[in-house]
Amino acid sequence: MSLTLRYMRLADIQQVAAIDQSCFQPPWSRDSYIFEINESRISHMVVLDSGAHQPPPQRNGWRSHLSDMLRGGRPAPNGQGDIIGYGGLWKIEGEAHISTIATHPRWRGKGFGEILLAGMFGKALRLNAEFIVLEVRVSNAVAQSLYQKYGFSRFGRRRNYYRSDNEDAWEMRVALDKDTRRRFARLYDELLAKHDFRDSYSWNARPWR
Ligand SMILES: CC(C)(COP(=O)(O)OP(=O)(O)OC[C@H]1O[C@@H](n2cnc3c(N)ncnc32)[C@H](O)[C@@H]1OP(=O)(O)O)[C@@H](O)C(=O)NCCC(=O)NCCS
Repeated sequence: MSLTLRYMRLADIQQVAAIDQSCFQPPWSRDSYIFEINESRISHMVVLDSGAHQPPPQRNGWRSHLSDMLRGGRPAPNGQGDIIGYGGLWKIEGEAHISTIATHPRWRGKGFGEILLAGMFGKALRLNAEFIVLEVRVSNAVAQSLYQKYGFSRFGRRRNYYRSDNEDAWEMRVALDKDTRRRFARLYDELLAKHDFRDSYSWNARPWR
């Protein structure tokens, strides 16, 4: 797979919304995505694009499936492949806020969520943020472990934060000081050594319409 981290486009919304629906209750509406991509001045939405269409199991028999798998999926004709995961970052004055992050359920545990988080971390640095903050369900140990790896720590507990079931959220934050930047540089280098991915999100300006 030749992975690309890039800004989310309108054409991605269908796939992104499908992942969103499988992860969050309630999911964002289609209009929310359109607003974040086209209108919001503070929003930096990202996707991890696989660069290929991954074949659903046994679509045209095992021979075709096997050859697709060996080739790493069918090349995407328009350069847009299946979306592996996505995220969102808002930059408000000195603060960067991670609004969402998710990996497609079939691609979890392979380092892709970390690529997305690292991309947004890099974007926050590029935008000269002093802090990154986010909210996470108190029961979401997997996401908390990912955030802690990048230096986030619990800052406060928000009671009944999630309207769907009244679960509390941890507010987590990390100050983008010298130590954090050094840790990030090391983790980012490790990610580049482990995965073949191109980052055209973190260091590029947002393409305004
Ligand atoms: C949180 C999420 C994005 C992680 O994505 P992922 O692609 O599975 O994660 P990665 O494979 O990149 O793993 C990165 C880190 O996450 C943590 N992690 C991943 N899977 C884990 C597991 N099963 N148990 C504990 N920690 C885990 C680890 O810290 C891991 O780092 P490591 O590999 O050095 O141990 C993914 O689980 C997801 O989409 N969850 C549903 C949506 C969600 O909860 N989003 C967070 C909202 S606040």
